Amino acid sequence: MSISPPQEKLWWNEPIPKSELIWIIVGFIWGLIMFFMMIYWHAVGEQNLSNEAYRITAEDFAARTNTMIEKYKVRDEAGFPVVHPPPGSDVYLIARLWQWWPILELEKDQSYRLHISSMDWLHGFSLQPVNINLQIHPGYEMVLTAKPDKAGEYGIVCNEFCGIGHHTMVGRMYVIEK
Ligand code: CUA
Repeated sequence: MSISPPQEKLWWNEPIPKSELIWIIVGFIWGLIMFFMMIYWHAVGEQNLSNEAYRITAEDFAARTNTMIEKYKVRDEAGFPVVHPPPGSDVYLIARLWQWWPILELEKDQSYRLHISSMDWLHGFSLQPVNINLQIHPGYEMVLTAKPDKAGEYGIVCNEFCGIGHHTMVGRMYVIEK
């Protein structure tokens, strides 16, 4: 029984019962399958992005984001700047308690370097309805090459619990036809 100490002190020298050994092998093989599924899913499915991560301070990231906003802001929406950076450029998205800042407006079929970082806690970037997910850590920027292939309005929800306002941490992204 597991609630009392093992009777044999050197329990790891005891022979392994056959049924237990089978389960260990099954568990090990299943682990290998799941491991290679990650690679398979990257190549075949539309999940597991080729994102990169770099160290960056919140101050540096905020400064780069603000430079982009100052240069390419096209309008305001409910207190949020809407930014239309040129195709091919580096675009920045801040995650913080409890918002995604600013609203990005990208062009369909154009490629961008999308940088996302957190100013405070761990947040989760979840782009809806396409279901692209990234963990956003403070102190690191996630960078990915994004080429939106469908115009429309996308929602960004936070999918890592980040405190009392977590459920209100929703943002927006536009992809427009040019
Ligand atoms: Cu940010 Cu939950």
